[in-house]
Amino acid sequence: MCGIIGYVGSKDSVNIIIRGLSALEYRGYDSAGLAVLDNNEFKILKKAGKVAELEKMLESTSLSGSIGMGHTRWATHGGVTDINAHPHCGGDNVVLIHNGIIENWMEIKEELSGDYAFISETDTETAACLIDKTYKDCIEKGENNPTLEAIKAAVQKIRGAFAFVVMFRDYPDRFYCIRKSSPLVVGCRHESAKEAAGKFEAFCASDAMALLHYTADVVYMNEGEIAELSVNGIKFWDFSGVEHERETIHIDWNYGMVEKGNYPHFMLKEINEQGTVLRQTIDKRVIDNQIDLSSDLKWDLEQVKSWRKLHIVACGTSYYASLVAERLAEQFTDLEIRVDIASEYRYRNIRCGADTLAVFVSQSGETADTLAAERLAKSKGAHCLAVTNVKGSSLAREVNSILELKAGPEIGVAATKTFMGQLAAFSLLMMWIGKLRGTLCKSDETRICAELTRLPYKVESILSRQDELRLLAEKYAETTSRYGIVYERSKGFLFIGRGNEFAIALEGALKLKEIAYVHAEAYAAGEMKHGPIALLDSGTPVITLAPADSLLEKTMSNIEEARARKSPIISVTSEGNNAVKSISEDCFFISRTEEELYPMLTVVPLQLFAYFFAFIKGCDIDKPRNLAKSVTVE
Ligand code: G6P
Repeated sequence: MCGIIGYVGSKDSVNIIIRGLSALEYRGYDSAGLAVLDNNEFKILKKAGKVAELEKMLESTSLSGSIGMGHTRWATHGGVTDINAHPHCGGDNVVLIHNGIIENWMEIKEELSGDYAFISETDTETAACLIDKTYKDCIEKGENNPTLEAIKAAVQKIRGAFAFVVMFRDYPDRFYCIRKSSPLVVGCRHESAKEAAGKFEAFCASDAMALLHYTADVVYMNEGEIAELSVNGIKFWDFSGVEHERETIHIDWNYGMVEKGNYPHFMLKEINEQGTVLRQTIDKRVIDNQIDLSSDLKWDLEQVKSWRKLHIVACGTSYYASLVAERLAEQFTDLEIRVDIASEYRYRNIRCGADTLAVFVSQSGETADTLAAERLAKSKGAHCLAVTNVKGSSLAREVNSILELKAGPEIGVAATKTFMGQLAAFSLLMMWIGKLRGTLCKSDETRICAELTRLPYKVESILSRQDELRLLAEKYAETTSRYGIVYERSKGFLFIGRGNEFAIALEGALKLKEIAYVHAEAYAAGEMKHGPIALLDSGTPVITLAPADSLLEKTMSNIEEARARKSPIISVTSEGNNAVKSISEDCFFISRTEEELYPMLTVVPLQLFAYFFAFIKGCDIDKPRNLAKSVTVE
């Protein structure tokens, strides 16, 4: 949460910062701000609202400077106001931006209150003032490297999670990045040969995606690390001041991948990429209808055979993918399985150890709860596997092994193509574990692998019928106006499904809630009678996931129950299933596939339904209110 960007070099930093902030806006969009250091003077511009507001302000100023930083905020401490927007000043010497939460900010504020007049309600301002204070102390003591010493002294006092970028007024050629728990990436680029040889441009950001326009060679900062970025290069120290070297890694994403192209929203672009995501996920992993993950997972066969338990832990959409994974694991492996939400798992008395494969699922690899859950499982001796889209992420760097999603960068806050990537990756993973443990039947392997290669076309066939889903959304998003009050046709939606389709019902309801702000509840179809059926009437449509699987007849009975309460029924079913059509007000057909793989088809119409619903309501689809794509605080 919160996006950070920083630049030092020979160019004007302002354009670089604005471009970076636009790429990072998915991390929070309560306010945006930037600071440059020009002629030893800090110039700060900040505003509540999106980056576009900041850009408007810039039109009437002449801000420039070859060193600067920018921030997009997802508010934690202090309301959404101009004053609480970052950057924050600490005394005369320091300007700072922050991602994270300072837990002992009140204590620090009290300690400094005699010397500093705090103007914001944020925890961040206390860190800026603290660094100013330690800096002044270091100057007084005549320290050789007062900036580094000041930072070292300050971080010893701060509890919580932070990624800071700090500029000192007296040092216009450098800034510092500090990381504890919140992600930060640094990168550099040699200036063109025409310009002074040997000089660097150095950048930092919360996410490497924001740097792709300038460089794909980056260093993901480690826990407890300080970096000094200057035109002479990048230096690294740990929090005790010991200097060390870091290798850069090359990211194989490019700038074009993080642009919207001709799509009105990233979400629509990403939904439309899902056929490609499936192809990329199975590429070189399914060969001649056989599964082979040996290049991804360098597992020792004896170790795989020693596992008794499988834990799958995640948040949000990644958790719903994990629910599908649970059933795949039940089918293809003999492991004892538990699936949990990371924020719960991390605080339970979990039984896990050397006999456990613990899988942590996170598209970003930065979700704070998922990371904490992984650290817990690791401390208990489990083998930790990350299923993630970002191979340089914190999660990916901490686990024992990684299964990469290969979905490419996802910018829309609502996860879509990474969910597809997760479903596909899980079908491969569970077959692979089963194959290594000798529990996967050959016929299942051939059947699933053959169908996985056909699936991208089936997804694309749904994508080619987007107009049907637009019309459906138009019908249910309809409003009427009486006495000046606008009534929505649908008071709320109930999503129902059984088995794997219950997980898809949860995901479909989540999409509608998060981007269209419509109340939607998902229930296991058989459980509907135990409460939510009381909600049903002609104003509460029921979206049913009813593909031709082994539970279809049971699901159809539940559809009848909802129908008897006059709820309009919208069904997603497989082609030729006219029985479902005949009991539904609206019906969307998908191709037939193997029972285990239906989720990869049934989710697509739900994503598009939510997208068009939100579009019709005029919602800010890529940046839904109150949300952030990467939840890096607890
Ligand atoms: C946030 C995002 C969701 C995402 C969840 C988990 O809530 O808005 O789209 O599913 O975090 O994120 P992760 O990166 O761990 O999969």
